[in-house]
Amino acid sequence: MSAEATGHADQVLVASNRGPVSYAVAGDGSLTAKRGGGGLVSGLSALGAGAGTWVCAALGDGDREAARRAGARLDPADTGGQAVRMLDIPAVTFDAAYNGIANSVLWFVHHLLYQTPLEPVFDTRFEEQWAAYEAYNAAFADALAEEAAPGAAVLVQDYHLSLVPGLLRERRPDLRVGHFSHTPWAPPELYRLLPDPVARQVLLGILGADRAAFLTERWARAFADCCAAVLGAEVDGLTVTHEGRTTRLGVHGLGADADFLRERASRPDVDERLAALRAQVGDRKTIVRVDRTELSKNIVRGLHAYRRLLTDRPQWRGKVTHVAFAYPSRQDLAVYRDYTAEVSRVADEINAAFAADGWTPVVLHVKDDFARSLAAYRMADVALVNPIRDGMNLVAKEVPVVSEQGCALVLSREAGAAAEMGEDALLVNPYDIAATAEALHRALSMPADERARRTKRLTAAATALPPQTWFLDQLTALRAM
Ligand code: G6P
Repeated sequence: MSAEATGHADQVLVASNRGPVSYAVAGDGSLTAKRGGGGLVSGLSALGAGAGTWVCAALGDGDREAARRAGARLDPADTGGQAVRMLDIPAVTFDAAYNGIANSVLWFVHHLLYQTPLEPVFDTRFEEQWAAYEAYNAAFADALAEEAAPGAAVLVQDYHLSLVPGLLRERRPDLRVGHFSHTPWAPPELYRLLPDPVARQVLLGILGADRAAFLTERWARAFADCCAAVLGAEVDGLTVTHEGRTTRLGVHGLGADADFLRERASRPDVDERLAALRAQVGDRKTIVRVDRTELSKNIVRGLHAYRRLLTDRPQWRGKVTHVAFAYPSRQDLAVYRDYTAEVSRVADEINAAFAADGWTPVVLHVKDDFARSLAAYRMADVALVNPIRDGMNLVAKEVPVVSEQGCALVLSREAGAAAEMGEDALLVNPYDIAATAEALHRALSMPADERARRTKRLTAAATALPPQTWFLDQLTALRAM
Protein backbone atom coordinates (compact mmCIF):
# COMPACT_ATOMS: atom_id res chain seq x y z
CA MET A 1 0.00 0.00 0.00
CA SER A 2 1.43 3.39 -0.92
CA ALA A 3 1.99 6.27 1.47
CA GLU A 4 -0.72 8.30 -0.24
CA ALA A 5 -3.22 5.54 0.38
CA THR A 6 -2.46 5.25 4.09
CA GLY A 7 -1.61 8.62 5.42
CA HIS A 8 -0.37 12.15 5.65
CA ALA A 9 2.02 14.17 7.77
CA ASP A 10 0.17 13.10 10.94
CA GLN A 11 0.88 9.51 10.15
CA VAL A 12 2.65 7.51 12.87
CA LEU A 13 4.71 4.42 12.20
CA VAL A 14 6.08 2.08 14.83
CA ALA A 15 8.88 -0.36 14.07
CA SER A 16 9.88 -3.20 16.36
CA ASN A 17 11.27 -6.67 16.01
CA ARG A 18 8.36 -8.34 17.79
CA GLY A 19 4.98 -7.24 16.53
CA PRO A 20 1.60 -7.06 18.27
CA VAL A 21 0.50 -10.47 16.96
CA SER A 22 2.05 -13.88 16.37
CA TYR A 23 0.85 -16.90 14.43
CA ALA A 24 0.94 -20.65 14.92
CA VAL A 25 0.33 -23.18 12.14
CA ALA A 26 -2.09 -25.96 13.03
CA GLY A 27 -1.77 -29.54 11.76
CA ASP A 28 -4.29 -28.85 8.98
CA GLY A 29 -2.23 -25.87 7.76
CA SER A 30 -4.58 -23.25 9.18
CA LEU A 31 -3.14 -20.29 11.08
CA THR A 32 -4.17 -19.06 14.50
CA ALA A 33 -3.32 -15.53 15.54
CA LYS A 34 -2.41 -14.59 19.10
CA ARG A 35 -2.31 -10.95 20.12
CA GLY A 36 0.36 -9.77 22.51
CA GLY A 37 0.32 -7.06 25.15
CA GLY A 38 2.96 -4.79 26.56
CA GLY A 39 3.71 -1.10 26.77
CA LEU A 40 3.91 -0.45 23.06
CA VAL A 41 0.56 -2.08 22.26
CA SER A 42 -1.31 -0.06 24.88
CA GLY A 43 0.79 3.03 24.11
CA LEU A 44 -0.15 3.01 20.46
CA SER A 45 -3.82 2.53 21.37
CA ALA A 46 -3.69 6.12 22.67
CA LEU A 47 -3.95 7.24 19.06
CA GLY A 48 -7.35 5.58 18.78
CA ALA A 49 -8.36 2.13 17.60
CA GLY A 50 -6.42 1.06 14.54
CA ALA A 51 -4.43 4.28 14.16
CA GLY A 52 -0.79 4.12 13.16
CA THR A 53 1.03 1.48 11.19
CA TRP A 54 3.23 -1.13 12.79
CA VAL A 55 6.17 -2.69 10.97
CA CYS A 56 7.58 -5.85 12.57
CA ALA A 57 9.44 -9.03 11.66
CA ALA A 58 8.04 -12.50 11.14
CA LEU A 59 9.59 -14.41 14.06
CA GLY A 60 8.70 -18.02 13.33
CA ASP A 61 7.19 -20.31 10.72
CA GLY A 62 3.61 -19.32 11.54
CA ASP A 63 4.42 -15.62 11.20
CA ARG A 64 6.27 -16.25 7.98
CA GLU A 65 3.34 -18.10 6.52
CA ALA A 66 0.93 -15.37 7.63
CA ALA A 67 3.16 -12.66 6.15
CA ARG A 68 3.30 -14.54 2.84
CA ARG A 69 -0.43 -15.11 2.68
CA ALA A 70 -1.32 -11.56 3.74
CA GLY A 71 1.12 -9.55 1.61
CA ALA A 72 1.50 -5.89 2.60
CA ARG A 73 -0.96 -5.98 5.52
CA LEU A 74 -1.95 -8.66 7.98
CA ASP A 75 -5.65 -9.44 8.22
CA PRO A 76 -7.12 -6.70 10.49
CA ALA A 77 -9.29 -9.38 12.10
CA ASP A 78 -6.08 -10.81 13.58
CA THR A 79 -4.71 -7.50 14.81
CA GLY A 80 -7.75 -5.80 16.33
CA GLY A 81 -7.85 -3.44 13.38
CA GLN A 82 -4.22 -2.35 13.75
CA ALA A 83 -2.43 -1.90 10.40
CA VAL A 84 0.51 -4.31 10.63
CA ARG A 85 3.13 -5.03 8.01
CA MET A 86 5.08 -8.15 8.96
CA LEU A 87 8.39 -8.51 7.16
CA ASP A 88 9.23 -11.93 5.81
CA ILE A 89 12.98 -11.66 6.23
CA PRO A 90 14.78 -14.90 5.23
CA ALA A 91 14.96 -17.20 8.27
CA VAL A 92 18.75 -17.51 8.16
CA THR A 93 19.19 -13.74 8.09
CA PHE A 94 16.63 -13.24 10.83
CA ASP A 95 18.21 -15.86 13.08
CA ALA A 96 21.70 -14.38 12.73
CA ALA A 97 20.42 -10.84 13.37
CA TYR A 98 18.07 -11.68 16.26
CA ASN A 99 19.75 -14.56 18.07
CA GLY A 100 23.31 -13.89 16.90
CA ILE A 101 23.66 -10.12 17.20
CA ALA A 102 20.70 -8.62 19.04
CA ASN A 103 20.31 -11.20 21.80
CA SER A 104 23.84 -12.60 22.06
CA VAL A 105 25.90 -9.44 21.55
CA LEU A 106 24.03 -6.16 22.01
CA TRP A 107 21.83 -7.48 24.83
CA PHE A 108 24.89 -8.98 26.51
CA VAL A 109 26.89 -5.76 26.29
CA HIS A 110 24.13 -3.58 27.72
CA HIS A 111 23.32 -6.02 30.54
CA LEU A 112 26.96 -6.86 31.37
CA LEU A 113 26.37 -10.57 30.80
CA TYR A 114 29.69 -11.67 29.33
CA GLN A 115 32.08 -13.87 31.27
CA THR A 116 35.00 -11.96 29.79
CA PRO A 117 37.88 -14.45 30.11
CA LEU A 118 36.30 -16.51 27.32
CA GLU A 119 33.76 -14.26 25.66
CA PRO A 120 32.95 -12.35 23.53
CA VAL A 121 34.94 -13.64 20.57
CA PHE A 122 34.54 -11.45 17.51
CA ASP A 123 35.68 -13.56 14.59
CA THR A 124 34.36 -14.69 11.20
CA ARG A 125 31.06 -16.01 12.58
CA PHE A 126 30.41 -12.65 14.17
CA GLU A 127 31.25 -10.89 10.89
CA GLU A 128 28.67 -13.00 9.07
CA GLN A 129 26.09 -12.35 11.72
CA TRP A 130 26.82 -8.65 11.63
CA ALA A 131 26.22 -8.59 7.87
CA ALA A 132 22.87 -10.28 8.52
CA TYR A 133 22.04 -7.67 11.18
CA GLU A 134 22.76 -4.95 8.60
CA ALA A 135 20.51 -6.66 6.05
CA TYR A 136 17.72 -7.10 8.60
CA ASN A 137 17.94 -3.41 9.59
CA ALA A 138 17.96 -2.42 5.90
CA ALA A 139 14.79 -4.46 5.31
CA PHE A 140 13.05 -2.43 8.02
CA ALA A 141 14.38 0.85 6.65
CA ASP A 142 13.14 -0.06 3.14
CA ALA A 143 9.67 -0.99 4.41
CA LEU A 144 9.37 2.16 6.51
CA ALA A 145 10.57 4.35 3.65
CA GLU A 146 7.89 2.82 1.48
CA GLU A 147 5.11 3.12 4.07
CA ALA A 148 5.75 6.63 5.34
CA ALA A 149 3.83 9.66 4.09
CA PRO A 150 5.84 12.88 3.72
CA GLY A 151 6.83 14.23 7.13
CA ALA A 152 5.46 11.22 9.03
CA ALA A 153 6.70 10.36 12.52
CA VAL A 154 8.50 7.03 12.87
CA LEU A 155 9.14 5.49 16.29
CA VAL A 156 11.86 2.84 16.07
CA GLN A 157 12.22 0.43 18.99
CA ASP A 158 15.23 -1.05 20.69
CA TYR A 159 18.61 -2.65 20.05
CA HIS A 160 17.35 -4.92 17.29
CA LEU A 161 16.86 -1.87 15.10
CA SER A 162 19.75 0.38 16.09
CA LEU A 163 20.83 0.98 12.49
CA VAL A 164 17.34 1.83 11.23
CA PRO A 165 17.26 5.56 12.08
CA GLY A 166 20.47 6.24 10.12
CA LEU A 167 19.40 4.06 7.18
CA LEU A 168 15.97 5.65 7.11
CA ARG A 169 17.38 9.16 7.14
CA GLU A 170 19.44 8.33 4.02
CA ARG A 171 16.28 7.11 2.31
CA ARG A 172 13.80 9.66 3.61
CA PRO A 173 15.29 12.84 5.11
CA ASP A 174 11.79 14.35 5.35
CA LEU A 175 10.68 12.00 8.16
CA ARG A 176 10.80 12.68 11.85
CA VAL A 177 12.50 9.72 13.43
CA GLY A 178 12.62 8.70 17.08
CA HIS A 179 14.49 5.75 18.56
CA PHE A 180 13.64 4.22 21.94
CA SER A 181 15.94 1.92 23.93
CA HIS A 182 14.04 -0.38 26.28
CA THR A 183 17.31 -1.70 27.71
CA PRO A 184 20.02 -0.17 29.86
CA TRP A 185 22.95 1.35 28.00
CA ALA A 186 26.47 0.16 28.76
CA PRO A 187 29.09 2.54 30.14
CA PRO A 188 31.89 3.32 27.63
CA GLU A 189 34.46 0.91 29.15
CA LEU A 190 32.08 -1.98 28.53
CA TYR A 191 30.52 -0.70 25.34
CA ARG A 192 34.02 -0.70 23.88
CA LEU A 193 34.10 -4.48 24.01
CA LEU A 194 32.42 -4.23 20.60
CA PRO A 195 34.74 -4.08 17.59
CA ASP A 196 35.44 -0.37 16.96
CA PRO A 197 33.64 -0.16 13.59
CA VAL A 198 30.57 -1.88 15.05
CA ALA A 199 30.57 0.34 18.13
CA ARG A 200 30.63 3.37 15.83
CA GLN A 201 28.00 2.02 13.49
CA VAL A 202 25.49 1.37 16.27
CA LEU A 203 25.92 4.85 17.72
CA LEU A 204 25.75 6.50 14.31
CA GLY A 205 22.65 4.45 13.51
CA ILE A 206 20.82 5.74 16.57
CA LEU A 207 22.13 9.27 16.02
CA GLY A 208 20.32 9.14 12.68
CA ALA A 209 17.21 9.79 14.79
CA ASP A 210 16.04 13.27 15.70
CA ARG A 211 15.38 12.02 19.22
CA ALA A 212 16.85 9.02 20.97
CA ALA A 213 14.98 8.17 24.14
CA PHE A 214 15.68 5.96 27.15
CA LEU A 215 13.87 4.69 30.22
CA THR A 216 16.03 6.56 32.72
CA GLU A 217 18.47 9.42 32.74
CA ARG A 218 21.23 7.00 33.72
CA TRP A 219 20.93 5.11 30.42
CA ALA A 220 20.62 8.33 28.40
CA ARG A 221 23.82 9.65 29.96
CA ALA A 222 25.64 6.38 29.34
CA PHE A 223 24.67 6.63 25.67
CA ALA A 224 25.93 10.22 25.51
CA ASP A 225 29.17 9.12 27.22
CA CYS A 226 29.64 6.43 24.57
CA CYS A 227 29.04 8.98 21.79
CA ALA A 228 31.73 11.21 23.29
CA ALA A 229 34.21 8.38 23.93
CA VAL A 230 33.76 6.43 20.69
CA LEU A 231 32.81 9.08 18.15
CA GLY A 232 34.30 12.17 19.73
CA ALA A 233 30.79 13.67 19.57
CA GLU A 234 30.02 16.88 21.36
CA VAL A 235 27.73 16.35 24.33
CA ASP A 236 25.85 19.16 25.98
CA GLY A 237 23.52 17.84 28.68
CA LEU A 238 21.11 15.60 26.82
CA THR A 239 22.06 16.83 23.36
CA VAL A 240 24.58 15.04 21.14
CA THR A 241 26.10 16.76 18.11
CA HIS A 242 28.20 14.86 15.62
CA GLU A 243 29.29 15.88 12.13
CA GLY A 244 26.88 18.78 12.07
CA ARG A 245 23.80 16.83 13.13
CA THR A 246 22.17 17.13 16.51
CA THR A 247 20.19 14.41 18.24
CA ARG A 248 18.18 15.18 21.36
CA LEU A 249 18.12 12.55 24.07
CA GLY A 250 14.88 12.04 25.93
CA VAL A 251 13.87 10.19 29.08
CA HIS A 252 10.47 8.49 29.35
CA GLY A 253 10.12 6.10 32.28
CA LEU A 254 7.38 3.72 31.19
CA GLY A 255 5.01 2.99 34.09
CA ALA A 256 2.43 0.37 34.95
CA ASP A 257 -1.09 0.50 33.52
CA ALA A 258 -3.03 0.58 36.80
CA ASP A 259 -6.55 0.48 35.34
CA PHE A 260 -5.79 -2.48 33.13
CA LEU A 261 -3.97 -4.39 35.89
CA ARG A 262 -6.61 -3.88 38.56
CA GLU A 263 -9.44 -4.87 36.26
CA ARG A 264 -7.60 -7.90 34.89
CA ALA A 265 -6.49 -9.02 38.35
CA SER A 266 -10.04 -9.06 39.65
CA ARG A 267 -11.41 -11.53 37.08
CA PRO A 268 -12.56 -15.04 38.04
CA ASP A 269 -9.62 -16.85 36.41
CA VAL A 270 -7.25 -14.92 38.69
CA ASP A 271 -9.46 -15.63 41.73
CA GLU A 272 -9.27 -19.34 40.93
CA ARG A 273 -5.50 -19.34 40.70
CA LEU A 274 -5.21 -17.30 43.86
CA ALA A 275 -7.29 -19.88 45.72
CA ALA A 276 -5.07 -22.68 44.39
CA LEU A 277 -1.87 -20.88 45.41
CA ARG A 278 -3.31 -20.06 48.83
CA ALA A 279 -4.16 -23.70 49.36
CA GLN A 280 -0.57 -24.59 48.55
CA VAL A 281 1.09 -21.87 50.63
CA GLY A 282 -1.34 -21.78 53.58
CA ASP A 283 -1.14 -18.73 55.80
CA ARG A 284 2.62 -18.40 55.40
CA LYS A 285 4.16 -15.18 54.19
CA THR A 286 5.15 -15.03 50.55
CA ILE A 287 8.19 -13.74 48.69
CA VAL A 288 7.03 -13.43 45.09
CA ARG A 289 9.05 -13.09 41.93
CA VAL A 290 7.81 -13.23 38.33
CA ASP A 291 10.26 -13.09 35.45
CA ARG A 292 11.09 -14.36 32.04
CA THR A 293 13.94 -16.83 32.62
CA GLU A 294 16.37 -14.25 31.44
CA LEU A 295 20.06 -14.18 32.36
CA SER A 296 19.84 -10.55 33.45
CA LYS A 297 17.00 -11.25 35.90
CA ASN A 298 19.38 -12.92 38.36
CA ILE A 299 16.94 -15.61 39.43
CA VAL A 300 19.66 -17.99 40.58
CA ARG A 301 21.22 -15.48 42.98
CA GLY A 302 17.71 -14.70 44.19
CA LEU A 303 17.36 -18.36 45.17
CA HIS A 304 20.77 -18.33 46.84
CA ALA A 305 19.66 -15.31 48.87
CA TYR A 306 16.48 -17.10 49.92
CA ARG A 307 18.53 -20.13 51.00
CA ARG A 308 20.79 -17.80 52.98
CA LEU A 309 17.72 -16.29 54.66
CA LEU A 310 16.54 -19.74 55.74
CA THR A 311 20.05 -20.61 56.93
CA ASP A 312 20.87 -17.41 58.83
CA ARG A 313 17.37 -16.66 60.10
CA PRO A 314 15.91 -20.05 61.03
CA GLN A 315 12.84 -18.34 62.49
CA TRP A 316 11.51 -18.08 58.92
CA ARG A 317 11.65 -21.82 58.26
CA GLY A 318 8.13 -23.07 57.73
CA LYS A 319 6.83 -19.48 57.95
CA VAL A 320 7.56 -18.22 54.45
CA THR A 321 7.22 -19.54 50.90
CA HIS A 322 9.17 -18.29 47.90
CA VAL A 323 6.69 -18.20 45.01
CA ALA A 324 8.92 -18.01 41.94
CA PHE A 325 7.56 -17.90 38.41
CA ALA A 326 10.29 -18.17 35.78
CA TYR A 327 8.89 -18.36 32.27
CA PRO A 328 11.08 -19.77 29.47
CA SER A 329 12.58 -17.18 27.17
CA ARG A 330 14.93 -17.21 24.16
CA GLN A 331 15.22 -20.98 24.28
CA ASP A 332 17.00 -21.00 20.92
CA LEU A 333 20.12 -19.97 22.84
CA ALA A 334 21.99 -22.71 24.72
CA VAL A 335 23.05 -20.37 27.51
CA TYR A 336 19.37 -19.59 28.22
CA ARG A 337 18.47 -23.28 28.26
CA ASP A 338 21.30 -23.96 30.70
CA TYR A 339 20.23 -21.07 32.90
CA THR A 340 16.63 -22.32 32.90
CA ALA A 341 17.88 -25.74 34.06
CA GLU A 342 20.02 -24.13 36.77
CA VAL A 343 17.01 -22.27 38.18
CA SER A 344 15.12 -25.56 38.60
CA ARG A 345 18.18 -27.32 40.00
CA VAL A 346 18.78 -24.74 42.72
CA ALA A 347 15.08 -24.57 43.61
CA ASP A 348 15.01 -28.38 43.96
CA GLU A 349 18.16 -28.28 46.08
CA ILE A 350 16.58 -25.79 48.50
CA ASN A 351 13.41 -27.84 48.71
CA ALA A 352 15.42 -31.02 49.34
CA ALA A 353 17.40 -29.32 52.10
CA PHE A 354 14.61 -27.52 53.96
CA ALA A 355 11.16 -28.97 53.18
CA ALA A 356 9.36 -30.24 56.27
CA ASP A 357 5.88 -30.92 57.65
CA GLY A 358 3.93 -30.05 54.51
CA TRP A 359 6.03 -26.94 53.85
CA THR A 360 7.55 -26.53 50.38
CA PRO A 361 10.05 -23.67 50.66
CA VAL A 362 10.12 -22.81 46.94
CA VAL A 363 7.06 -23.06 44.71
CA LEU A 364 8.51 -22.76 41.21
CA HIS A 365 6.35 -22.55 38.10
CA VAL A 366 7.81 -22.40 34.62
CA LYS A 367 4.67 -22.48 32.47
CA ASP A 368 3.70 -18.97 31.43
CA ASP A 369 0.32 -18.06 32.87
CA PHE A 370 -0.51 -14.37 33.14
CA ALA A 371 -3.58 -14.95 35.34
CA ARG A 372 -1.44 -16.92 37.81
CA SER A 373 1.18 -14.17 37.80
CA LEU A 374 -1.49 -11.67 38.78
CA ALA A 375 -2.70 -14.03 41.51
CA ALA A 376 0.86 -14.12 42.88
CA TYR A 377 1.02 -10.33 42.75
CA ARG A 378 -2.20 -10.17 44.75
CA MET A 379 -0.86 -12.41 47.51
CA ALA A 380 2.68 -10.95 47.65
CA ASP A 381 3.97 -9.88 51.07
CA VAL A 382 7.40 -9.28 49.58
CA ALA A 383 8.32 -8.82 45.92
CA LEU A 384 11.86 -9.79 44.93
CA VAL A 385 13.17 -7.98 41.84
CA ASN A 386 16.95 -8.31 41.77
CA PRO A 387 18.21 -8.03 38.15
CA ILE A 388 21.89 -7.64 37.36
CA ARG A 389 20.76 -4.76 35.16
CA ASP A 390 17.40 -3.90 33.70
CA GLY A 391 16.15 -1.07 31.50
CA MET A 392 13.21 -0.52 33.85
CA ASN A 393 11.55 -3.71 35.19
CA LEU A 394 7.79 -3.52 35.09
CA VAL A 395 7.23 -6.31 37.62
CA ALA A 396 8.63 -3.97 40.28
CA LYS A 397 5.97 -1.49 39.25
CA GLU A 398 3.10 -3.93 38.86
CA VAL A 399 3.25 -5.85 42.15
CA PRO A 400 2.63 -2.84 44.43
CA VAL A 401 -0.39 -1.85 42.30
CA VAL A 402 -2.02 -5.27 42.56
CA SER A 403 -0.91 -6.60 45.97
CA GLU A 404 -3.87 -6.89 48.34
CA GLN A 405 -2.16 -6.28 51.67
CA GLY A 406 0.61 -4.05 50.35
CA CYS A 407 4.01 -5.52 49.67
CA ALA A 408 7.57 -4.69 50.60
CA LEU A 409 9.75 -4.39 47.50
CA VAL A 410 13.31 -5.73 47.50
CA LEU A 411 14.75 -4.09 44.41
CA SER A 412 18.10 -4.16 42.65
CA ARG A 413 19.78 -0.80 42.50
CA GLU A 414 20.73 -1.70 38.92
CA ALA A 415 17.11 -1.75 37.68
CA GLY A 416 15.87 1.39 35.97
CA ALA A 417 12.87 1.28 38.32
CA ALA A 418 15.21 2.07 41.24
CA ALA A 419 15.49 5.65 39.97
CA GLU A 420 11.79 6.21 40.61
CA MET A 421 11.05 3.77 43.41
CA GLY A 422 14.34 3.64 45.31
CA GLU A 423 13.17 5.62 48.31
CA ASP A 424 10.40 3.24 49.28
CA ALA A 425 11.96 -0.01 48.10
CA LEU A 426 14.72 -1.88 49.93
CA LEU A 427 17.58 -1.49 47.47
CA VAL A 428 20.17 -4.22 47.04
CA ASN A 429 23.40 -4.89 45.23
CA PRO A 430 22.24 -7.81 43.03
CA TYR A 431 25.54 -9.71 43.39
CA ASP A 432 25.53 -9.60 47.19
CA ILE A 433 23.77 -12.68 48.55
CA ALA A 434 24.12 -11.76 52.23
CA ALA A 435 22.77 -8.25 51.64
CA THR A 436 19.86 -9.57 49.58
CA ALA A 437 19.04 -12.13 52.29
CA GLU A 438 19.13 -9.38 54.90
CA ALA A 439 16.83 -7.19 52.78
CA LEU A 440 14.40 -10.12 52.49
CA HIS A 441 14.45 -10.43 56.28
CA ARG A 442 13.77 -6.71 56.71
CA ALA A 443 11.01 -6.86 54.13
CA LEU A 444 9.34 -9.83 55.85
CA SER A 445 9.65 -8.10 59.23
CA MET A 446 8.32 -4.72 58.08
CA PRO A 447 5.43 -3.52 60.28
CA ALA A 448 2.08 -3.51 58.46
CA ASP A 449 1.57 0.25 58.69
CA GLU A 450 5.02 1.01 57.26
CA ARG A 451 4.43 -1.49 54.50
CA ALA A 452 1.10 0.12 53.66
CA ARG A 453 2.61 3.61 53.57
CA ARG A 454 5.47 2.53 51.36
CA THR A 455 3.17 0.59 49.03
CA LYS A 456 1.03 3.67 48.54
CA ARG A 457 4.04 5.72 47.49
CA LEU A 458 5.48 2.89 45.38
CA THR A 459 2.15 2.63 43.57
CA ALA A 460 2.05 6.37 42.91
CA ALA A 461 5.59 6.27 41.48
CA ALA A 462 4.84 3.11 39.48
CA THR A 463 1.77 4.52 37.77
CA ALA A 464 3.01 8.06 37.16
CA LEU A 465 3.55 7.45 33.44
CA PRO A 466 1.06 4.91 32.08
CA PRO A 467 1.80 3.46 28.61
CA GLN A 468 -0.53 5.76 26.70
CA THR A 469 0.99 8.93 28.18
CA TRP A 470 4.48 7.46 27.78
CA PHE A 471 3.79 6.97 24.09
CA LEU A 472 2.06 10.30 23.45
CA ASP A 473 4.82 12.23 25.25
CA GLN A 474 7.39 10.77 22.87
CA LEU A 475 5.30 11.59 19.85
CA THR A 476 4.61 15.14 21.01
CA ALA A 477 8.30 15.75 21.71
CA LEU A 478 9.27 14.37 18.31
CA ARG A 479 6.70 16.43 16.45
CA ALA A 480 7.68 19.57 18.33
CA MET A 481 11.19 19.39 16.86
C1 G6P B 1 12.25 -7.26 27.03
C2 G6P B 1 13.11 -6.06 26.95
C3 G6P B 1 13.00 -5.38 25.62
C4 G6P B 1 13.13 -6.37 24.49
C5 G6P B 1 12.27 -7.57 24.66
C6 G6P B 1 12.60 -8.60 23.61
O1 G6P B 1 10.92 -6.91 27.06
O2 G6P B 1 12.79 -5.14 27.97
O3 G6P B 1 14.03 -4.44 25.56
O4 G6P B 1 12.83 -5.76 23.26
O5 G6P B 1 12.50 -8.12 25.93
O6 G6P B 1 12.17 -9.84 24.00
P1 G6P B 1 12.04 -11.00 22.95
O7 G6P B 1 11.32 -12.06 23.67
O8 G6P B 1 11.26 -10.42 21.82
O9 G6P B 1 13.43 -11.38 22.56
